[in-house]
Amino acid sequence: MAPVRILADERELAQAAAEEFVGVVKADIEARGFASVTLAGGSTPRALYRLLADPDEPFLGDVDWDKVRFFFGDERHVPPDHPDSNYRMAYETLLSKLPARPGNVLRFCSEAEDVDFVASYYETLLRRLFQLGPGQVPRLDLVLLGMGADGHTASLFPGSDVLHETARLAAAPWVEKLNAHRFTLTPVVFNHAAHVLFLVSGAAKAATLREVLEGEYQPDRLPAQIVRPVDGTVLWLVDPEAGKLLRPKDARD
Ligand code: 6PG
Repeated sequence: MAPVRILADERELAQAAAEEFVGVVKADIEARGFASVTLAGGSTPRALYRLLADPDEPFLGDVDWDKVRFFFGDERHVPPDHPDSNYRMAYETLLSKLPARPGNVLRFCSEAEDVDFVASYYETLLRRLFQLGPGQVPRLDLVLLGMGADGHTASLFPGSDVLHETARLAAAPWVEKLNAHRFTLTPVVFNHAAHVLFLVSGAAKAATLREVLEGEYQPDRLPAQIVRPVDGTVLWLVDPEAGKLLRPKDARD
């Protein structure tokens, strides 16, 4: 089972996530001169992003932010200034406060009508920036992910064809329950990452989190189970509410 840390509260969860985030990013900048991070959407990462950008906290001054390239694990089919936009949330809480180069923030062009164009354009960006040949997959240094109460992660939703996508790096699945398209990186990208950090909070996710972490492998029903990097680490940071049904720490393998 992937390592799980149950933190005392949301603040501690954000603190632990910020320490992991900065640790990975600094090491990669030290080793290769830059770091690639994929941001998660939704609400849980907000506290992390605010903490990283807070000038009164140690993180903002501890990273060479202009050596960090930011990507998005998924996006909604809305313009970047829409209240539901993951880009807007990340921009308001983090990106607008960093001395990062604008060219280092790569968002989905989610305002475009043609959803297949949006996905294929994002894939082209990835291939160009990582200088990938045919069939190659980018190795992202750090991928941040959340999990929904239905077991989805990024925009990999239960029963979606994109769960079985093995060639494309980005896709635009129709999500029936949302009655909308979403944009998402595909499992092969997440499973090529060096470090994956799941941030999960809230009692509504407790039963699903136990199934994902301790139950049978059923990725079509629990897409978060798909994320198992072939040569990378996964760490789950959860709050007490989300983690309350997990086996006690000493009973976890
Ligand atoms: C999104 C996210 C999604 C999110 C989960 C958890 O676009 O909404 O990428 O996968 O991580 O739905 O969301 P919360 O953090 O809001 O619970």
